[in-house]
Amino acid sequence: MNFSYRCTDCGTEYSGDQIRYLCPQCEPVEGEFQKGVLETILAPEYLLSLKKKPAIAPEDFLVYQLPNAAAYPVGNTILVAPVKLRRQYGFPNLFLKNDGANPSGSLKDRASQLVAAQALFHDEKTVVLASTGNAGSAMACAGAALGLQVILFVPATAPKAKLMQSVLYGATVIPIRSTYDDAFKLSIEYTLKFGGINRNTAYNPLTIEGKKTVSIEIFNQLGRNAPDVIFVPVGDGVIYAGVYKGFADLRSAGLIGKMPQIVGVQASGSNAIAQAFQTGKMLAIEKATTAADSISVASPANGRMAVKFMRACQGWATEVSDGEISQAQLELCKEAGVFVEPAAAAAWAGFLKDHEKINPAKNVVVLLTGLGFKDLAAIENSVIVPEAVESDLDSIINRG
Ligand SMILES: Cc1ncc(COP(=O)(O)O)c(C=O)c1O
Repeated sequence: MNFSYRCTDCGTEYSGDQIRYLCPQCEPVEGEFQKGVLETILAPEYLLSLKKKPAIAPEDFLVYQLPNAAAYPVGNTILVAPVKLRRQYGFPNLFLKNDGANPSGSLKDRASQLVAAQALFHDEKTVVLASTGNAGSAMACAGAALGLQVILFVPATAPKAKLMQSVLYGATVIPIRSTYDDAFKLSIEYTLKFGGINRNTAYNPLTIEGKKTVSIEIFNQLGRNAPDVIFVPVGDGVIYAGVYKGFADLRSAGLIGKMPQIVGVQASGSNAIAQAFQTGKMLAIEKATTAADSISVASPANGRMAVKFMRACQGWATEVSDGEISQAQLELCKEAGVFVEPAAAAAWAGFLKDHEKINPAKNVVVLLTGLGFKDLAAIENSVIVPEAVESDLDSIINRG
């Protein structure tokens, strides 16, 4: 497909015919968010041609097609209509988009699918990345399904299930005794020295682009409409920007009239983007501290683009405490039958915090980005599994 890249910061355009990472014109600034992230631009005439199609598929918007999409079937996740929560909060048009239903259990499969397609197209056999856990297990899953070698740098503190998944899928897993931000830098050094495609979130612009398919699916699931408001959990700001990009492409295609308001939800201990939205200063925070590991980021790789898009769609940033995330996680289980990991529960906690600001007649989607089974330790203290009893009725009736 005919596409190009444009730098979010300086606006320089680059052709899409080769693998590109950050804009070479934009120098990093110590202590600030990464600069020079590239936005992927589809040809306007191509987007407009989509309006004539009787049905729109997410793949219509992708810049590389997978040669064998059925080998790693990503997307088409369920849009849950949570009847009890709708009643409880008075929002009859509330939906939960459960992206934990992807092959490796998180929305990150969407980006990994597009990067895998890019690798296969350019005849690259190896993909290198840093991850808080989910991007790594997604890329490892894609690698297993499609025959790519995956080299993964991950903080040793990542939830065990995510590390185990990546090892099981056959990736080379390198846990490091440091933060995700350090794993990010190390993986770039490694790629520069030893080659392969780097899939670091935002550093490779296709990680943003791949995630936009979730918006095209929501559009189809709402009967070819955009929601009015969508809540998205935010760490690096790549999912946020991907969701925005999907709706922006639909708007450029003339398929929707206006953008949804996209609300970025951060943990209060990892709030660099929320702060930047308030102050206009793109500053890293000293240390990210939240139990929601997937959104624990001190220096967001896509902070600048996320803040820019947040302003453009009249969205906003909201912060939730770890306690609120934990409560939200339990509520989604009990009231909707949906078990998500803490980062995903943050989006629901954001809805709980801000729903009074929203007209209840609106179409509201809460994006649930990852499965609860990925981090059982996070929930251990909130659940008591009953003691075992003898297998006779008396013991059951008399149990404590
Ligand atoms: C489950 C889950 N939710 C939310 C996020 C946050 O996405 P981003 O870092 O793009 O803001 C991640 C990122 O790892 C994730 O895995």
